[in-house]
Amino acid sequence: MSNTILVGAQWGDEGKGKIIDFLTETADIVVRSQGGNNAGHTVITGGTKYVLHLIPSGILRPNKMCVIGNGVVVDPIAVATEIEGLRAQKIKVSKANLAISDCAHLVLPYHRLLDEQRELKKGKNKIGTTKRGIGPAYGDKAARVGLRIADLIQPALFSEKLALRIKENNAVLKAFGAKPLNFKEVNAAYLEAGAKLAPFVSNTVVLLHQALKAGKEILFEGAQGTFLDIDHGTYPYVTSSNTTAGGACTGSGVPPHRMDRVLGVMKAYTTRVGEGPFPTENMEFSDMLHGMGREFGATTGRARRCGWFDAVAVRYAGMINGIDDIAVTNLDGLDSLAKIKVCTHYKLARRTLEVPPSDFRDLTACKPVYTELPGWQTPTHEAKQWDDLPKNAQSYLRVIAELAGARLSIASVGPNRDQTIVL
Ligand code: IMP
Ligand code: MG
Repeated sequence: MSNTILVGAQWGDEGKGKIIDFLTETADIVVRSQGGNNAGHTVITGGTKYVLHLIPSGILRPNKMCVIGNGVVVDPIAVATEIEGLRAQKIKVSKANLAISDCAHLVLPYHRLLDEQRELKKGKNKIGTTKRGIGPAYGDKAARVGLRIADLIQPALFSEKLALRIKENNAVLKAFGAKPLNFKEVNAAYLEAGAKLAPFVSNTVVLLHQALKAGKEILFEGAQGTFLDIDHGTYPYVTSSNTTAGGACTGSGVPPHRMDRVLGVMKAYTTRVGEGPFPTENMEFSDMLHGMGREFGATTGRARRCGWFDAVAVRYAGMINGIDDIAVTNLDGLDSLAKIKVCTHYKLARRTLEVPPSDFRDLTACKPVYTELPGWQTPTHEAKQWDDLPKNAQSYLRVIAELAGARLSIASVGPNRDQTIVL
């Protein structure tokens, strides 16, 4: 494997965690470059389920270096808890396999409270955030008033900066009618987490460039998905980072020309959590998947909205990310259907659209145009190779890959490592 950027081609929850875990077998280093603990990557291996939020899934395999890059926003208490949880599940976590960038910004309690207050204030226009403080944390980063990991591991400096930030944010919280924060409590909890994380902290740009020099192979694991990107997504119904391929460069300090391949992960259908436009959403299909116990969020437990495969969205994701190969997951979710719809283009008033309109109001007004494909009505979860798949499942995959304009390289038929078909 060469240096690969893995991105979600839809609205997140494409099953990236499982594909990353699978690809990690041949990688040396796994890097998170954006997002925070709003992400939830589920990996099932050896009958054990692991849910990761901030730590790259590479941590589950021995001798893989995992990096939390400069572009990530880190809730230090959440990472410390995640490390402890992994250790309780007998996963080794030490500075030999985890590095945290000193430039990564911190998520602080006022970010979470502001996230919550802003959502409440928006009422029915809420974004449906994970309430992890992600938006306000990236907001502070852009406004140049953020605190970073480098600050956290210098206690006296951290306390001084935190006192000022809490003072300012308490005034804002008061205006919202929310309870102010107690500096002493926050300071103590963060310094305690900081002491736990200090051994992992370094300049991860240097670490990654040394690895490149040594010919190591790096996997950049994207969090969320293309249409949650702060620039290219369905703004304002997005997350606050660049979830698309470019984010892997800015969020890690590895330059574009060192990237060899972009792998887009997509479900065989579409899902979305939170509010915002979703042209192919279908209630009946949602109910069917939820009835099977599928499509509940790893981070918040929320039921995901579900709909048909949207080739318009995925085609655009191919453009923005430069997707070379695709991995299609959750094929088995379609096993019981007699007929499967695939959206090939949108109608917006009289116009036919090949790519989504940029404005979310236009996207909301778009009517999907479908083609209908025959289902296979056979369980696929035991398929180990291409030839084990029913003919109609093979042609379904071929059609969606062709519509997406990329090469099909992986099909996944279940959550386990061995339920992965490589082409
Ligand atoms: P935030 O990232 O918590 O601010 O949430 C903004 C939007 O992104 C909401 O619609 C969330 O549901 C969505 N979102 C954030 N992280 C994920 C993820 O990992 N998977 C799917 N949706 C996500
Ligand atoms: Mg997820």
